[in-house]
Amino acid sequence: MLTVNNIDVAYDQVQVLYQLSLSVERGEILCLLGRNGAGKTTTLKSIMGLLPLRTGSIELDGESLNNLAPHHIPGKGVAYVPQGRRLFSELSVQQNMEIGLMASGAGKETREYALSLFPRLRERLKQRAETLSGGEQQMLAMARAICTRPQVILLDEPTEGLQPSMTSLIRDVIVEMKQQNVAVILVEQHVDAVLSIADRVSFIEHGVDAETVYASKLHNNKGLVQKYLGV
Ligand SMILES: Nc1ncnc2c1ncn2[C@@H]1O[C@H](COP(=O)(O)OP(=O)(O)OP(=O)(O)O)[C@@H](O)[C@H]1O
Ligand SMILES: [Mg+2]
Repeated sequence: MLTVNNIDVAYDQVQVLYQLSLSVERGEILCLLGRNGAGKTTTLKSIMGLLPLRTGSIELDGESLNNLAPHHIPGKGVAYVPQGRRLFSELSVQQNMEIGLMASGAGKETREYALSLFPRLRERLKQRAETLSGGEQQMLAMARAICTRPQVILLDEPTEGLQPSMTSLIRDVIVEMKQQNVAVILVEQHVDAVLSIADRVSFIEHGVDAETVYASKLHNNKGLVQKYLGV
């Protein structure tokens, strides 16, 4: 569905991704795992058109995304929840969600659907985003992405720094997206946080997709995890 084919990506002169490839299907959760600085965030930014490709291509259902300006990518059905969220901090919960709805032309039903996944946001519709707790901000970032009615959602460490109850809520919503046939790319650093929900795992190492395996294969094979994430 979404395919990344042999991309090279650099920040100015410094190359960070090398012939990186991955793919994700509808209704699938692909997890990207790798150490700090491996290139996970850079991979997501590249998909969103935020960084130019030196070589390679990115396709959605066979249609190239390469030459689209970043603001046209969400319109193709690709939503991005960046690391550290990035809300419109002075706008309210409701206004942040409206921005997602406007991007897709979706209506009230979509808003209600997003609020049903995160009931706590409904109690805080008028509250400014910057005054939300960390967990609530993460909920809002995801709710806004869901308001764009994505076919593909890219999540960059959505549970970073959150307590276990919040982590499990976020994880439930990710599974719900999969059940809605959305393709999910989930970046994580902690294998325990994702093993139970991921379908496949791609290990990213030094800007290379070192190995991709079915998540079920990792349950009884801590060796691979140790190899790519080991301390
Ligand atoms: N704006 C930038 N300018 C220059 N180099 C950058 C920039 N952003 C990231 N890099 C470098 O690119 C490499 C990959 O960074 P990236 O953020 O993709 O890693 P990551 O896998 O997401 O790491 P983390 O787990 O810490 O979030 C790192 O060496 C980083 O220093
Ligand atoms: Mg990162």
